Amino acid sequence: MRILVTGGAGFIGSHVVDQFVEQGHEVAVFDDLSSGRREFVNPKARLVVGDLTDSNAIERCVAEFRPEVVDHHAAQIDVRRSVEDPALDARTNILGALALLGSCRRHGVRKFIYASTGGALYGEGRFLPATEDHPINPESPYGVSKHTLEHYLYLWKRLHNLDYTVLRYPNVYGPRQNPHGEAGVNAIFIGLMLRGKRPRIFGDGEQVRDYLYVADVVEANRLALSKGGGEMLNLGTGVGTSVNDIVRELKSILAFEGEALYEAPRPGEVKRIYLDA
Ligand SMILES: NC(=O)c1ccc[n+]([C@@H]2O[C@H](COP(=O)([O-])OP(=O)(O)OC[C@H]3O[C@@H](n4cnc5c(N)ncnc54)[C@H](O)[C@@H]3O)[C@@H](O)[C@H]2O)c1
Repeated sequence: MRILVTGGAGFIGSHVVDQFVEQGHEVAVFDDLSSGRREFVNPKARLVVGDLTDSNAIERCVAEFRPEVVDHHAAQIDVRRSVEDPALDARTNILGALALLGSCRRHGVRKFIYASTGGALYGEGRFLPATEDHPINPESPYGVSKHTLEHYLYLWKRLHNLDYTVLRYPNVYGPRQNPHGEAGVNAIFIGLMLRGKRPRIFGDGEQVRDYLYVADVVEANRLALSKGGGEMLNLGTGVGTSVNDIVRELKSILAFEGEALYEAPRPGEVKRIYLDA
């Protein structure tokens, strides 16, 4: 198959690319390298450096590569930045994605796999683990923008016969996650502790999330190449883990003696969410 992975130079997307290449697919990556890294891109994949908000760039890429499947990982992923500048977030996550959908339609793409979010979509968990039927009440512009594309996908299938599978990720962790980023508590804490620095916790550390290893996310993307058409599916462990739990585990694994620093909670973050996959 010819598969275009947007955001394929990023943490999760680059692992998905590796898996598709290993399976013998022909893979192209569209990425502006804003947070992704050239060296993460599998050498057997074709890298097209471009910005999703540039509709000409994405059109050229799809027209030339002619993918059968688009696996969409490129996004503005910073929840705090989305709170500060919702329009910037929407430009990439909604308008950029719409430009991509337009190109998919014009060039006969068969299927669209979408890396959505379960962690930022349901809002405060009313029942846990949250199923796909849980009410959708995003508490950040990021959650709103990520969810908006799901509506377009549902509609695009009806209007233009583009099949889709939406994968709602929980908090993903693993190699290549940025330890200097705004999200990805495991990578950030490991990075700090390895440098002998105390991890900073926003709030009381009792916020609960669902942490999933990146290889499991990759497996879901592999399955979505042939299954899950027209479905919106949670990925997750069904187990909630608190930030304090993570600090305790990492302290013991890394033999780190210091204590965490506690700071003010951040706006736009829910207290408890974990997902029924
Ligand atoms: N990491 C998580 O826990 C998590 C949870 C839920 C959903 N997701 C989703 O998974 C996807 C990948 O996230 P990640 O954690 O690997 O983040 P990441 O930042 O490592 O990957 C995003 C990639 O998209 C690229 N990108 C960003 N804006 C772009 C633009 N305008 N044009 C082209 N490329 C652009 C970046 O350079 C990067 O390579 C995102 O869509 C994110 O919303 C991630």
